[in-house]
Amino acid sequence: IAKKRLDYQAPNYLINEVDLVIELDPTDTIITSTLKCETSPHAISSNAGVASEQDLILDGEDLKLISVFLNGSAFTNYRIEEGKLVIPQAELAQLTDFTLQIKNSVDPINNGSLEGLYLSNEAYCTQCEAEGFRKITYFLDRPDVLSVYTVTIIAEKAAFPHVLSNGNLVEERDLADGKKLVKWHDPFKKPCYLFALVAGNFDKLSDSFTTMSGRQIQLELFVDKGKASQGHHALASLKKAMKWDEDVFGLEYDLDIYMVVAVDFFNMGAMENKGLNVFNSKFVLADSNTATDDDFFNIESIIGHEYFHNWTGNRVTCRDWFQLSLKEGLTVFRDQQFSADMFSYLATRISQVKVMREHQFAEDAGPMSHPIRPDEVIEMNNFYTVTVYDKGAEVIRMLHTLLTADGFRRGMDLYFERHDGQAVTCDDFVNAMQDANEVNLDHFKLWYSQSGTPRVKVESGLESGSKELNFTQRTNPTADQADKRALYLPIKVECLERSGRKIDLNLNNDTFVLDKANASVTVPSEDFVPVLLSDFSAPVILDYPYSLEDYLLIMTFSSSDYSKWDASQALYSSLISELYHNESVELSTSVWGKLEAALRQACNNYELLNEMLTIPSVESLTQGFEFSEPLKLSAARSAFLVQMQENLQDFLLEIMANTAQKSYEYTKVQVNERRVLSAVLQLLSYSKTPEMAAQLEKRFNSADNMTDKLTMLKASQICSVELFEKLMLSFESEYLENAVVMDKWFALHATTKSNDILSKLTLLASHRQFNLRNPNKVRSLVGSFAFYNTDGFHAIDGSGYQFLTDYLLELDPINPQIAARLVTPLIQYKKFAKSHQEMMVMQLKRLLNRANLSKDLYEKVSKSLTS
Ligand code: ARG
Ligand code: ZN
Repeated sequence: IAKKRLDYQAPNYLINEVDLVIELDPTDTIITSTLKCETSPHAISSNAGVASEQDLILDGEDLKLISVFLNGSAFTNYRIEEGKLVIPQAELAQLTDFTLQIKNSVDPINNGSLEGLYLSNEAYCTQCEAEGFRKITYFLDRPDVLSVYTVTIIAEKAAFPHVLSNGNLVEERDLADGKKLVKWHDPFKKPCYLFALVAGNFDKLSDSFTTMSGRQIQLELFVDKGKASQGHHALASLKKAMKWDEDVFGLEYDLDIYMVVAVDFFNMGAMENKGLNVFNSKFVLADSNTATDDDFFNIESIIGHEYFHNWTGNRVTCRDWFQLSLKEGLTVFRDQQFSADMFSYLATRISQVKVMREHQFAEDAGPMSHPIRPDEVIEMNNFYTVTVYDKGAEVIRMLHTLLTADGFRRGMDLYFERHDGQAVTCDDFVNAMQDANEVNLDHFKLWYSQSGTPRVKVESGLESGSKELNFTQRTNPTADQADKRALYLPIKVECLERSGRKIDLNLNNDTFVLDKANASVTVPSEDFVPVLLSDFSAPVILDYPYSLEDYLLIMTFSSSDYSKWDASQALYSSLISELYHNESVELSTSVWGKLEAALRQACNNYELLNEMLTIPSVESLTQGFEFSEPLKLSAARSAFLVQMQENLQDFLLEIMANTAQKSYEYTKVQVNERRVLSAVLQLLSYSKTPEMAAQLEKRFNSADNMTDKLTMLKASQICSVELFEKLMLSFESEYLENAVVMDKWFALHATTKSNDILSKLTLLASHRQFNLRNPNKVRSLVGSFAFYNTDGFHAIDGSGYQFLTDYLLELDPINPQIAARLVTPLIQYKKFAKSHQEMMVMQLKRLLNRANLSKDLYEKVSKSLTS
């Protein structure tokens, strides 16, 4: 059942034009699809004489076929095989082009997979990427078949004031029986995964944007009734994204209208359908009363991401799904650059590096390990991964580092010059970068085919008397690939003397390129501390025998704020690891004094200070161990925080006293003040004193914004169970009707440390705002528990693993895509100590034994049990 990258064959038939007539009905939507097809030139040259291979095989899933017409005449000589509609080659042999008309029906209200056409919250909505169009009608559901679409939708006039599809509105008129007809035409050829339809009753916000060539684009944002006032930040973000892409890449929007619709039921963040983005409402709706600073940041970033896809994804798309990183890695890189320019480089970079270290490295080390361009796939939805997206973006970033911003721009220009309107491969992209810059990127391309996280070991040759830094790289075998080669790695290096003075290394752009297993750099100094992998210049794990003194030196003297933060994290990790191995140890007071001194240096830079006051999560600490005892690790982390609070209390109180509450605005200065305050209050909460609890309660009650309210909730979760429960009740009564805000409430409950967490979760699952069919709710409750509640999920009796498994068995038949996302913490069992592994494996076997397990879960669970 697995598909392989190397089995790619160009399509035997092309579909140049698609005309869809869709008569919406909750249980019986009728689709009439008229396809102008052509025998592909490829089919004739390469497959000549192999008639059986040239049947026209149209993908289909969960469809009811009504009729087929070929060139206007009723046609019955077809076959249905595994849901697919097969038109025998013999019937098409004399034809170079032909028209196929297919009529079928689907059942939107009972479609819980949220893929294809579905009806939820009284709105119709589609999601076609990757292979969902086949759940709407029979089609060549592959991204290298590009067509021009005309879409006619018939809907009840009163219930569906807004009926939308891609491109331009060309007709709207009333029909009999209270129905209306709406017709859209998209002049740009596109693959079917970019098709979209939305019908519902929304509030609409309108705006416009004038492009660099002076064209006026109409912008429309559709949100649930009554929520228009929460759409302004998203619209403003869209205009910033449009301007930024013109300024940085010279890319202009192409259609006359750009629409964004926010829906509550959605499997992922958002989708870049041509001219009609569909968004998860949590990445659109925001005001200071309901959204946090992080929500404001994420909305801008995802609005940007989907907008940037219009060029990197839509105008130039993927030849096949193995090339997904062509559009996703590149577009994530573009949205990161956008966020860095709009908000802050440091905060953007740090949050990205956390994603890599907490999630991508874990994926590389687990059973689902794959290169950013996978070789084998059972269920494509399982490959929308942190590897394809985030490691993919790191690979693009290395190109940007190696070629510089100007060289990268030249490569992008050539890419669009060559490939606009085409479906292409990752190699095509790298070739454009290479040719535009007259460099050879053959070795660099290995990043696309090799999986796993390289480890770079660095040793200074001081002991042997020479002054050198020796670099060695090695990538361990992964579940999918045994043999690894040396990669092309750009490593940013800075060297500091003990005095803090910077030593000149004569490196181009401060970057050393490690392109073989071993190499070294000469350092003109006897005694120095290297600052390695600044800006996370390559997605690797770095190994250097730093002392605590070294970390403190870097935190004080590095020229890079990123490296100061990175050193602080490594310092905390090593101290926590000390407590992990020896629970009763009191860390020496001299460490705290020096740490405080280093942190004081950052007091004039709240952006850096808030990052340095954030302690690594259990998830990222886990990566530093071979077989970790999760409960012990969580306890060691808490013990560290208690000691840090005791020893830095005066300093923390000083900062607390220096931050005044201001009336809320989403500005960089205010965000950094709120973040520092949040870090400080959370640390101080480890004192668990009544004074601290009173302080939190007072601040909760006077908070004028969601960010501060959540800060107080999180701190009270640490400080006092009673206070936490009390504030959560008051929060619930205030926000009960707001679905997006209630997600935060579910997530907080799910991450509580409590002996009866499972009965609490069961109770929450019967809350009237909870709904098993809504992915946001499931992610908030079950996802937060499995990913972030270490003590509950890894409970010593295995009850957490069993709870997740019971839940997955219930969810899988409804929404396999979400079930497969949530199984991740379970399949990564090899990171944990033996006793945990056994209990996790037992639950995975329960899953595998389930009859009719989805392809999605099957792929992940079976791999986890065999690798
Ligand atoms: N292309 C969308 C985006 O990155 C995400 C689509 C996810 N699809 C999926 N089957 N998980 O913006
Ligand atoms: Zn994307």
